Amino acid sequence: MKKAVIIGASSGIGKELAIRMASMGWKVCTTGRRTLFLEELGKMNPDAFISRTMDVTDTESLPGQLEEIASSLGGIDMLILSSGTGDINDSLDFSTEKRTINTNVTGFTCISDWSFNYFKKHGSGHLVIISSIGGLRGSSSAPAYNASKAYQINYLEGLRQKVYREKLPIYVTDIRPGLVNTDMAKGEGLFWVMPVEKAAKQILTAIRRKKRYAYVTHRWGLLARLVRLIPGRIYEKM
Ligand SMILES: NC(=O)c1ccc[n+]([C@@H]2O[C@H](COP(=O)([O-])OP(=O)(O)OC[C@H]3O[C@@H](n4cnc5c(N)ncnc54)[C@H](OP(=O)(O)O)[C@@H]3O)[C@@H](O)[C@H]2O)c1
Repeated sequence: MKKAVIIGASSGIGKELAIRMASMGWKVCTTGRRTLFLEELGKMNPDAFISRTMDVTDTESLPGQLEEIASSLGGIDMLILSSGTGDINDSLDFSTEKRTINTNVTGFTCISDWSFNYFKKHGSGHLVIISSIGGLRGSSSAPAYNASKAYQINYLEGLRQKVYREKLPIYVTDIRPGLVNTDMAKGEGLFWVMPVEKAAKQILTAIRRKKRYAYVTHRWGLLARLVRLIPGRIYEKM
């Protein structure tokens, strides 16, 4: 039986991936801060799920907690990092930006590094990160969020380079969703908001194909290509 850890599975994309992977025969450890939500999910399929309450900003305790999960599961074949936060922050309130950085940059780096080293030591593994199409360009309304996702995209490229150079049997997949109908999709005038079920289905296809990166959904992928082409002097006026 294959074993996965899904960080940030108490709601949204991570939860939907957990449900689908459990039904596909995976043993899954779900994590998040909201213990009750994890317990409710566990009751849906007690043989498939274990759960751990975990705050990804607590980087002192993360490595120990991940080691404990690995031994409880009897090994980890895949780690999916779906925890993330981001707020509209027009006033540039630093505490809001700091929360985003602590979660999406510091927590992400701690978990990615631990996973990479774990898979290296154990001779195989697949690291999957849910970044965002937002990481391709800046954002005036949520600058730390988009910048944190750019950091993730760049960091994962570095890890893939490391895999190639060291000839490691590790896969690193960067999933870049557009808007998905979860608690995170906030704000006015949102468009092309996709159902979480559709996003999860496409994410699992990308994972199965061991893609280096994938845009979800496909039409967001088309938009991503266009967005990258817009010259800075025009983008800054949009
Ligand atoms: N929804 C979108 O439109 C969209 C678009 C592009 C990318 N994404 C990315 O997709 C990922 C998943 O987001 P979602 O849309 O599924 O939103 P969500 O429903 O709000 O899920 C976020 C998950 O992250 C966990 N989390 C947040 N802060 C955490 C912390 N400090 N420690 C541990 N877990 C934490 C939450 O669990 P607890 O609160 O229980 O801790 C929750 O399980 C995020 O990285 C997001 O940036 C989302």
